[in-house]
Amino acid sequence: MLEKIISFEALPSTNQYLKENYSNLEHFTIITCENQTHGRGRLGRSWFSSKDSGVFSILLFPQYLNNINITFIPLVCAYATLKVLSKYVDSLQVKWPNDIVLSSKKLAGILVEAVTTTKIEAIIVGIGININNSSFNEEISSIATSLYLNNNSILDKKTIIADIANELKNSLILDPSEIISYLNDNLYIKGKEVSFSYNNEIVSGVVCKINQDGSLKVSTNKGIINVSSGEVTLTNLYK
Ligand code: BTN
Repeated sequence: MLEKIISFEALPSTNQYLKENYSNLEHFTIITCENQTHGRGRLGRSWFSSKDSGVFSILLFPQYLNNINITFIPLVCAYATLKVLSKYVDSLQVKWPNDIVLSSKKLAGILVEAVTTTKIEAIIVGIGININNSSFNEEISSIATSLYLNNNSILDKKTIIADIANELKNSLILDPSEIISYLNDNLYIKGKEVSFSYNNEIVSGVVCKINQDGSLKVSTNKGIINVSSGEVTLTNLYK
């Protein structure tokens, strides 16, 4: 079934829209826009998008999420996005926790945010995909790619967005081990050297796999370290 999507011509950020309006909206409301003017990325970065990008956010209320661990949601989103985009292109990978990578360049990014008072009121899943982009600005052109640049054909953004939303709905009730296993099979950083901050020190090591709890197992000269996604920036991993 195709999910119902609410579309705007322009918004500063689809995530921000849901943050401001979640209390009047239903679980699994999907917001998209043609022109996102102040898109946000992870770790305080901004997210560049044009009319050719697919940008959307989905509103989740924890009470409808059957005990799923909130820290696991970014991985479920990566899984659903990877599954759907793999219909259009081969050899997609995930850069843990949730960048989607094509030919060593970033194809899509995911930002999961929680609205918190004394408890988690709402979770906002924001996904940005380079769909029909034929070029990127200088700042990101060496590290970003799009489905168009790979396939040379224009795709229908709404179909892809609805398909990912539908896949996410189904994935949220899957056994977590199925998700972890699929992500490990397509893990871009497996065997690669990564650096991260650990006990106020920058530590390097080689990525082994994603653990069952969603953390990343890294082999370092201090032994095995299991890193959680909030703690780490993996640098210089794109061509
Ligand atoms: C990242 O890779 O850093 C995450 C990028 C997430 C971008 C999407 S686009 C739709 C939604 N609205 C936002 O402002 N950000 C997310």
